[in-house]
Formats: sequence, C-alpha cells, structure tokens
Amino acid sequence: MAEQNSSKKMMWATIGVAAVLIAIIYPLTNRTYNSAADAAKGSDESDVRIQPVAKFELAKAAAPAASGPRDGATIYNTVCGACHNTGAAGAPKIDDKAAWAPRLGQGKDGLIKSVTNGKGAMPPKGGAALSDDEIKGVVDYVLSKVK
Ligand code: HEC
Repeated sequence: MAEQNSSKKMMWATIGVAAVLIAIIYPLTNRTYNSAADAAKGSDESDVRIQPVAKFELAKAAAPAASGPRDGATIYNTVCGACHNTGAAGAPKIDDKAAWAPRLGQGKDGLIKSVTNGKGAMPPKGGAALSDDEIKGVVDYVLSKVK
C-alpha cells in the first residue's frame, strides 16, 4: 500500500513537472515564433507604407522624367534645396546674396560647369541624374534667386 502510494506520488510528481515544463516552454517557443513573425510582418508593412513615397521621390530625383526635362524650380526643390536651403555641407544658401556674389563673376557657364562636374562638397549634378538641359534650367532658377 505504502509502495503503491509512493509510486503514485512519483507519477503525479512527474506529470506535475512535465506540466510545469510545458507551461514554461510552450509560451516561450510560441513567443519566439510570434515575435519573428511580427518582426517580419512589421518590416513588410513599413516597406509597403513607405513604398509609394520612396518610389515617387526616387523617380523624381533620379530619373529624367519621361515627360521631358523637369523645370528648374522642381529640380531645385527636390535635389539642390537639401543643401542650398540650409547651407548644409557649407553650401552657399539660396537667400544669401553675399555668398553668391563672388561666384557669379565666373558667369553662367562656369556655374553650369561646377554643377555638372561637382565642386568641393557638392557632388556632380548635385548627386542626381540630370540632363544638360535640366542643369541649365536649374542654374537659371538659382541665378534668378541669387542675383
Ligand atoms: C550635397 C550638398 C549639395 C547639393 C545637393 C547641391 N549643392 Fe550646390 N553646392 C554645394 C556646396 C558645398 C557648394 C560650394 C562648393 C565650393 O565652392 O567648394 C555648392 C556650390 C554651388 C554653386 C556655385 C558653384 C561655383 O562655381 O561657385 C552652384 C551654382 C550650385 N552649387 C548649384 C547647385 C545646384 C543647381 C544643385 C542641384 C542640381 C546643387 N547645387 C546641389 C553643395 C550642394
């Protein structure tokens, strides 16, 4: 009787330990799956969320539009303004006529050359894909603002 009792106890103890282990481990495995799935889902969602804007901005900034050259103001606002509105990287600010005065002496062709080839911290074409016409147009736009 005593022996039977203790083996019964053993059985319940084993079941109890197993239940506790399952109770601890099961949620852990479950949680890892969940968080991995959540992470994947989360990044997918944010990719999808930024996609239209990212595509739009890239299309605007990188590729000459299929509809012909973009006008100077558009290019300035999407490409050049990042530096020339703020003075980032030491760029002459668009509203700082004194900073532009000495640069204007070289004439429009010189400025076009600087933009085409890059100058100092300014990458060639401001880092975008611009046609010669577009560069002329945006330099005209800059000149109209700084003169
Ligand atoms: C990454 C920042 C940056 C971007 C983007 C940028 N610039 Fe500049 N730009 C500069 C800096 C810095 C200078 C001053 C370079 C120097 O004199 O060393 C400069 C100088 C110039 C000059 C004067 C060049 C000269 O010969 O003195 C012109 C004109 C100009 N930028 C036009 C543009 C136009 C147009 C765009 C857009 C297509 C553009 N920049 C995009 C940073 C930038």
